Amino acid sequence: MKAAGGGPSAEALMREAVKAREASYSPYSRFAVGAALLGASGRIYHGCNVENASFGLTCCAERTAAFKAVSEGEQEFLAVAVTARTGHGAPPCGACRQVLAEFGGDDLPLLLAGPTGAAQEQRLGALLPQAFRLR
Ligand code: THU
Repeated sequence: MKAAGGGPSAEALMREAVKAREASYSPYSRFAVGAALLGASGRIYHGCNVENASFGLTCCAERTAAFKAVSEGEQEFLAVAVTARTGHGAPPCGACRQVLAEFGGDDLPLLLAGPTGAAQEQRLGALLPQAFRLR
């Protein structure tokens, strides 16, 4: 991820994802995920997974962050950091990739990190080639 002029570094965005993970509501899977989304306005939106006793209603951390951002008027995403406890972090699930594709280009940087070590950077287009688009 290229630090935009005055924007947060990849490390700083990942620190926000770590903070976001603290709010995870995951009593069923016990798999806490945190996301931090940088919008074109410069604002950072936190997201965490929110589970439900009716398991299928669970919302992933990435979609929580995306929907928070859009509901605040942010429709252009510049980068998303995601963290979980597994070594490689948590690459976004297919549904989240498609939601991110609506508001970020194929080159949207995704920073993925586990509990320790440096974040791995992937581009959305590499994780979701040929995203479905209507415009
Ligand atoms: N989860 C996320 O928050 N993001 C992903 O990309 C994959 C999975 C959550 C959903 C559920 O609460 C838990 O991880 C286990 O699947």
